Amino acid sequence: MSYTDLNPDTRTLLGPGPTTAHPRILRAMATPLLGYLDPQFLVILDEVQELLRLVFQTTNELTLAVSGTGSAGMEASLCNFIESGDHVIVGVNGFFGSRIAEIASRYGADVTTLEKPWGEVFEIEELESALQARPAKILALVHAETSTGALQPMDGVGELARRHGALLLLDTVTSLSGVPVEIDAWGIDIAYSASQKCLSCPPGLAPITVSERARAVMKDRKTKVANWYLDLSLLEQYWGENRQYHHTASMSLIYALREGLRMVQEESLDTRHARHLTNAKLLWEGLKDLDFELHVPLAHRLPMLTTPRLYAGLDDAAVRTNLLNNYNIEIAGGFGALAGQIWRIGLMGFSSRRENVTLLLAALRENIT
Ligand SMILES: Cc1ncc(COP(=O)(O)O)c(C=O)c1O
Repeated sequence: MSYTDLNPDTRTLLGPGPTTAHPRILRAMATPLLGYLDPQFLVILDEVQELLRLVFQTTNELTLAVSGTGSAGMEASLCNFIESGDHVIVGVNGFFGSRIAEIASRYGADVTTLEKPWGEVFEIEELESALQARPAKILALVHAETSTGALQPMDGVGELARRHGALLLLDTVTSLSGVPVEIDAWGIDIAYSASQKCLSCPPGLAPITVSERARAVMKDRKTKVANWYLDLSLLEQYWGENRQYHHTASMSLIYALREGLRMVQEESLDTRHARHLTNAKLLWEGLKDLDFELHVPLAHRLPMLTTPRLYAGLDDAAVRTNLLNNYNIEIAGGFGALAGQIWRIGLMGFSSRRENVTLLLAALRENIT
């Protein structure tokens, strides 16, 4: 059996992630490997931590990237803080809230889910009554719900969680570096993200940051963390000063993340957020011209993930297949409660460019009118 050279088509990735990796990031990945204790690699690890603090807008010492995709970040954010029987409240207004609830329950948490229709967001009063009804160790929310296109407002939520003695956990997988994420100013205790969304890196690393308050809870555990690979107290022995081997670092992905973060710093967070919004607005206008309604009202709409509602007579699968086969463009369909009802169009990181919006709208026009 012989195999051909690896040569897939170059796609324009305009789905919910992964997004197109910037050429600078791909070049960084070709940097020669170093040993995981090579002094030069340790400097790179320190730089990644510094840059992550900048992008998360935090001074949290415990800030690193776990090996694995966003779900590994999610799992690390739960398994390190939950002990059997702990009460955890999870906001579920889309697919990823349910995943948080599922993982939390696997670590023995007593989970209360607050349910909302997919596409809506939680009002602070709803979060407050849940905490009043029964105090919780963790209140977990998804900032940018990639299954619906909704942005959860965070005004006052950190203060609310503190008042009720709960740690505030935020999924920033899709939001980080596309909209403001202010870990310290908002009082977020635990946040995780993923390399393949607005940071435009390949999938495989999950940035995570933990406040001193949450770190104290971690240190105070009565039982060992059930997940050895994602035990943050072991991981910080490697990322911190001790440099103790835990598992072999994924050098090439760390190089990629460093470059992706460096590009955020060069562009500046404010300019990057503004770019995401400008390109999203262009897309929203173009979609309206094509008679699409957008699933999420403007007030809570994500700029990096737009969810037009499919209208009667539109052949969802045929259009998306044509986009892929004839234009090399990937967009995604809806799933779960929104299966067959929406598309999910991502303009994340390097993919958030005016030419991509123009190309997609032109391709759609050729296929649906
Ligand atoms: C909001 C959100 N959380 C978590 C995840 C899980 O990340 P991954 O698929 O990288 O494991 C995703 C993936 O799309 C996501 O969009």
